[in-house]
Amino acid sequence: MTLDTRVRWGARHGIAGFLLRQSARRGALDSALSVDPELRAYPFDAYDQIRPQGEFSKGVLARVTARHALVAEVLRSDDFGVARNASNVPRAARAMVAIAGRKKTLSPIEPPSLLAVDPPDHARYRRLVSKIFTVRAVESLRGEIETTATQLLDAMEDRAANGQPVDLVTDYANLLPVTVICQIEGVPLEMRDQFLKWGAAGSVTLDIGIKHDDFVTAENAIIALRDWTYEHFARLRANPGDDMLSQMLMGQEKLPAEERLTDEELAGVAMLLLGAGFETTVNLLGNGVIQLLENPEQLKYLKENPEGWANAVEEVLRYDSPVQRTARIAKHDVTVGETKLTAGTFVITLIGGANRDPAVFTDPHRFDVQRENAKDHLAFSGGIHYCLGAALARMEGEIGLRMLFERYPDLGLAGAPTRRPTQTLRGYARLPMYLRPPQEPYLR
Ligand code: HEM
Repeated sequence: MTLDTRVRWGARHGIAGFLLRQSARRGALDSALSVDPELRAYPFDAYDQIRPQGEFSKGVLARVTARHALVAEVLRSDDFGVARNASNVPRAARAMVAIAGRKKTLSPIEPPSLLAVDPPDHARYRRLVSKIFTVRAVESLRGEIETTATQLLDAMEDRAANGQPVDLVTDYANLLPVTVICQIEGVPLEMRDQFLKWGAAGSVTLDIGIKHDDFVTAENAIIALRDWTYEHFARLRANPGDDMLSQMLMGQEKLPAEERLTDEELAGVAMLLLGAGFETTVNLLGNGVIQLLENPEQLKYLKENPEGWANAVEEVLRYDSPVQRTARIAKHDVTVGETKLTAGTFVITLIGGANRDPAVFTDPHRFDVQRENAKDHLAFSGGIHYCLGAALARMEGEIGLRMLFERYPDLGLAGAPTRRPTQTLRGYARLPMYLRPPQEPYLR
């Protein structure tokens, strides 16, 4: 491990983690949400307590809001960006970043990731992907997604017949979206396990205050993925397929030189698509399975009314949002609601809290697949960073959940589920399940 890695970790996570732990000990709930494993596992009571504290509570690193109207306003506003230095981040941390510089790992939270750039770069990158990722192109994946789901469900059949448990995350929820993204990016399916390993290691960088060892593992995973991506570009350029990534690379070459993206920018886009494509949808599937098992009357309703699945997916996204938070920085002095925020203010928008705001959702802690305004959730963010894969994620969620429950209508828990320890991404690491009820009663 090098000195500059330690300095980068210190700047990004070490100082923040120390301040968050201290402030959590003094009782600050928004800090505790980041550092207390129990609150991470069930943050919803904390969100309810943060909401009445004011429009934006004054956290140790950021102003924090869990109100739906304010989260929506910040995310949709041009007065906020993602790419400048935050003034309320401790000076020491900013100085350390300046000393260590940035490492061109192409992490999801650093430029040229779409998530970390403002206009005009953001528009330039996004235009490129939007051209390929059209509604029609996404809809044309439906048949392949159904085929993939069938193959994965078939592969579990032996264990179902023998009453053996499966891990629904490893055997199904992980594999469905990663297979789809391999098809999109023209990647052989043998790479799936490697992607899942890189993705799991790299996605912790979305959190604040992570441990040094996790930071090093994440950087190494992201660097390995970056190097693989450059090699993959060379393969596709020499031998383009009919996948979307090949089209993106070929489309580039027809553009005037000044409009083309550099290979680093292209790799940033491709890597984010890849990671965002499976690290989130796995949680939608896992969270959906648990909510439906816990609410059998709603599962019964869906069996009798299969046209209700689309809204059920919206309700899972609202109730147990796979992405719980994101952040923005005020570009200049701005008033949001009745709160004045000065230029450079770092704001954390608690998406998971906004989605349980009683001002918008009646009885918000009730899971209700028939909820009329379930779609008003902010699970896919808003404004210029609105999730590019939202249509694909909805389709994968609907097909993945519906086909699972159609094929194995009696599936149930065979042991305690384990949550992923992350704060930004919310989902399950393991879901031990019987696909058909065993002879002996099983654990619930
Ligand atoms: C249930 C599944 C998903 C959820 C909950 C989700 C959520 C999100 C959220 C909250 C953001 C914006 C973050 C911010 O505003 O700071 C985002 C952005 C993004 N998502 Fe998704 N996502 C999902 C699936 C996908 C899929 C399947 C893909 C691609 C195949 C994808 C690709 C992207 C990309 C490229 C961005 C960056 C957009 C930009 O910054 O302009 N996502 N997603």
